[in-house]
Amino acid sequence: MKSTRKFPRGRIAFFVTSNIHKFNEARRILAKHGVATALLKVETVEIQDDSIEKIAKTTAAEAAKKCSLPIIVEDAGLFIEALNGFPGPYSSYVYRTIGTKGILKLMKNTKKRDAYFHSVVAFCSPKEPPKCFHGKAKGKISLEAQGSRGFGFDPIFEPSAGGDKTFAEMTLVEKNNCSHRAETLRKFVRWYTSAFKRRF
Ligand code: IMP
Repeated sequence: MKSTRKFPRGRIAFFVTSNIHKFNEARRILAKHGVATALLKVETVEIQDDSIEKIAKTTAAEAAKKCSLPIIVEDAGLFIEALNGFPGPYSSYVYRTIGTKGILKLMKNTKKRDAYFHSVVAFCSPKEPPKCFHGKAKGKISLEAQGSRGFGFDPIFEPSAGGDKTFAEMTLVEKNNCSHRAETLRKFVRWYTSAFKRRF
């Protein structure tokens, strides 16, 4: 009998996040590669470190152990060149404290507005150490906040590949065509689907 399943049994990625926007972005990308995404909310302690890879790996290892499942965690940061990479791995704290307005204030009168988002996906199963994938989106900090879609620093980030639109002015499909997260997840899903074929 022909299977009516959209996703073959076992082709599922458990994404540990409390951010529904990240989940929605990931779900579309993974689905295009035949992998379903399940959102898992797991209490973890997010460490502070200068490396987003280390943060993602530590969270992934803790979450995989807690839920006894192979899981993915994605961690990202905004790196502004004129601010020597600030806020980088501290993006979440900076967003919660000074937000997009605070960043625009710090960038007032700054002509050099180059910045990039760096994303890391850490895959971890209870029996294996975490494996990491990286992606970047280069762009600029806009002069003012524009758009109402997305989350976080989306209203003030204009990706180079997006014309003069900020991420917050893009549809989810448009953001996924040029975002750091999309690049990382595509690398992950290519590896994941080939690893799946080898194992099962
Ligand atoms: P997280 O630790 O990966 O959740 O990301 C840290 C912070 O970076 C978040 O609180 C957001 O403010 C920001 N951030 C991460 N990814 C994005 C994105 O795709 N767009 C806008 N802001 C982002």
